[in-house]
Amino acid sequence: ENSYSSVLKPSPILTIAHRGAAAHAPENTIAAFDKAVALHADFIELDIQLCKDGELVVLHDDTVNRTTDGQGNVKNFTLAQLRKLDAGSKFHPSFKGATIPTLDEVLTRYKGSIGILIEMKTPSRYPSMEQKVASLLQKHKMDQADSGVIVQSFDSRSLQTFHQLAPLVPIGVLIDRADLLNEPQLIRYSSFATYINPNKKLINSHLVNRLHEFGLKVATWTVRSAKDIPALIKAGVDGLITDDPSFLR
Ligand code: G3P
Ligand code: CA
Repeated sequence: ENSYSSVLKPSPILTIAHRGAAAHAPENTIAAFDKAVALHADFIELDIQLCKDGELVVLHDDTVNRTTDGQGNVKNFTLAQLRKLDAGSKFHPSFKGATIPTLDEVLTRYKGSIGILIEMKTPSRYPSMEQKVASLLQKHKMDQADSGVIVQSFDSRSLQTFHQLAPLVPIGVLIDRADLLNEPQLIRYSSFATYINPNKKLINSHLVNRLHEFGLKVATWTVRSAKDIPALIKAGVDGLITDDPSFLR
């Protein structure tokens, strides 16, 4: 393959399995991440919270109420207590006994086999979260540019803090409002981020072109119907964060 063909060939669109393949298995569990691997997704997306004894755990909400058989705030549970919760049955009884994973465990299991998009959830509630993520990536030797990890958050200040601690790790800024994409913001984001990850309702080709002009890639969320995909691809996005990675195959 000569250099011209590789320049001209459009880069493939990343398939990113939202909370694992959340359409097929209980979100943010090993079952969901394994399913994403089986469906040949490029990345798994997962959410992290910090529990009482300081461990980073993989859970979307700041309480255990919606996805497990327990009640209460994650920050008031020790890891041992969280491990006793059933994180599978509410999705489907056949997943009874699925547990809340730690980020450490997920990195160990999936590094090298699938990309990992880590969302720091409400880091302002957990002042040391950025340092803990940076240290864990360092421990796994995944604090490099090509480790297959991306760290994202809605909190762009927290991402800047993380960038100081782990300057090589690619960063994504999650965006839910168009007014967070004005010129000064884009200049600031492009100083530390590789991706801007907007809600799909904000996507159009004008926006994607503008983000590309700033040197930023675009992964959008959350694709829950295959019908949404053609318009997003036409608009030029680089990645789709979807509950069902089989949509793109
Ligand atoms: O990856 C983007 C998406 O996960 C953000 O929304 O609520 O599913 O974490 P949420
Ligand atoms: Ca998320």
